Formats: sequence, structure tokens, C-alpha cells
Amino acid sequence: MPCDITSEHQVREVIQASRPAVIINTAAFTDVDGNERDPEKADLVNTKGVEYLLTAADEVDARFIQVSTDYVFDGTAGPYLEEDTPAPLSVYGRTKLAAERLVLERDRHLIIRTNVLFGPDIHAPASFIRWIVNSLREDEPIRVVDDQVNNPTLTTHLAVAIKSAIDQHAAGLYHYAGLEFLTRYEFALRIGYHFSLPVHKIAPIATEELGQLAPRPLLSGLICSKMKMDLKVRNANVTDALAEAFPRA
Ligand SMILES: NC(=O)c1ccc[n+]([C@@H]2O[C@H](COP(=O)([O-])OP(=O)(O)OC[C@H]3O[C@@H](n4cnc5c(N)ncnc54)[C@H](OP(=O)(O)O)[C@@H]3O)[C@@H](O)[C@H]2O)c1
Repeated sequence: MPCDITSEHQVREVIQASRPAVIINTAAFTDVDGNERDPEKADLVNTKGVEYLLTAADEVDARFIQVSTDYVFDGTAGPYLEEDTPAPLSVYGRTKLAAERLVLERDRHLIIRTNVLFGPDIHAPASFIRWIVNSLREDEPIRVVDDQVNNPTLTTHLAVAIKSAIDQHAAGLYHYAGLEFLTRYEFALRIGYHFSLPVHKIAPIATEELGQLAPRPLLSGLICSKMKMDLKVRNANVTDALAEAFPRA
């Protein structure tokens, strides 16, 4: 059943009809520059929508899991632990942080922060991997930022981590991300190597040179030792995760 999370009525109707035990919210307005251009929509989707979902979840006694982001941090001192103080640089980060605070006001719900997601579907819209692979296959030169550090995360590993968190009744705030911290440029090179493509077509560029509307956290990434310790989940380095996601490349 489709559900626009910015409609309180629709959210209540869908949740009352389905009475789920667990609600996992992956819906968000994720266009970071688009959030700067339309902060009202950002607030509505990223924060207000979460409030509607939380209210409806509590009405049917469902547990609620919110997927959040390292963009709640300013990227001056990453990688970050759960107890580090958020200081978002952008509308996207601020609206996602506001949603986190709504979730944490209620005891039994869960936030999982993650970063730089990539999945096995190479045709997914806005896929970083698709952009790199298609550009290199066409022999097109591309520029990738070499001053943003994160730990890229395979979506299927995140799904396993979320399932573990549900099974073990985890609540509060957890980080889940990949094992390896690297720049976006290094990540692009790894993708190129994995698909045996001409990596010399990838050139490094500074974030500032892109002139994007929203500032990006630079030295970021998420330490997930709390989740690994409490819930015994595993994470993987980028090369292994690429091999798992694209085994016949
Ligand atoms: N991708 C990353 O690297 C990354 C990193 C950290 C955290 N996250 C978080 O992970 C979650 C999933 O991100 P993603 O990369 O999968 O984002 P995405 O590809 O942009 O998908 C977001 C989804 O939200 C839906 N959506 C937007 N507005 C909605 C509304 N009003 N009601 C219902 N659905 C709505 C979109 O549907 P339509 O396509 O129909 O608009 C889309 O399916 C988000 O919470 C994001 O903040 C992502």
C-alpha cells in the first residue's frame, strides 16, 4: 500500500490497516542540495513525516527504526562514535537530526546511522557505482572528490544489521557502516579496479571546486564498534563488499 509520509492521515490509515510489529523508515528527502533549495519540504519529509510515523507506531504498539546519516556531523573530526556531538552543516543534516531527537524522546525505538550506501543493483537511480562504471565504460573522464572520507556500506549488510537489531530488541542509537575508511576518490578507484575499467580516467577534485549548494562533512565516517559488540554484527572492507555485491564482474 503506497504511503506519503508527509500525510498524517495516510500514515495513520496504512499503519492501522497493516498493524506491523516493526516499522523501518528508509523514506527521506535525500537530495542534499535540493534540501537547501526547499527547506520546507526537507522539514516535512525528513522530520514531520517521522513524527507522524512515530505517533502511528505508538498507536499500534509497533517498534520504530529510523535510518539516519553521518550528515548530522560537521566532518571536522570523524570518524564518529554515537556519543559524539552532532553539528550538522546542511538542511538535510539538521532535519535528519531533528528526526533523531523525536525518536530518542521515546524509549523503545531505534536509530541506525549509516553512510555512503551502495547496493548490488547497478541500475539503481542515483547510484555512485553506476555513474563510475558507465562513465569508465564510455571512456569518459570523471572527477571525484578526494577530501571526503567515509566508510562505504553495502546495503545488504545494513539490512542484516537491521534484522539483527530487531531480533535482539535493540533500542537507542547505533552506527552501522563498512569496515574501511577511504576517500570518495579511493572508493571510485576500487570500483574501477573491481570492474576492470580504465581507472586513469578518474581524477581527484576538491569538494570546494564543485561549488555545491550544501556544505559536505569532509572528515566523516561512522565507528560501529558499539553495534558490533552489542549485536555481534559484522562489516566488510570495500574490496570484499564489492566482490560480494558484484561476484561476476
Ligand atoms: N544513500 C546513502 O548513502 C545514505 C547515507 C546515509 C543515510 N542514508 C539514509 O538512508 C535512507 C535511505 O536512503 P536512500 O539512499 O535509499 O534514499 P533514496 O534513494 O533517495 O530513497 C528515498 C526513498 O524515500 C521515498 N520518499 C521520499 N519522500 C517520501 C514521502 N513523502 N513519502 C514516502 N516516501 C518518500 C522516495 O520515494 P520516491 O522515489 O517515490 O520519491 C525513495 O523511495 C534515508 O533515510 C537516508 O537519509 C542514506
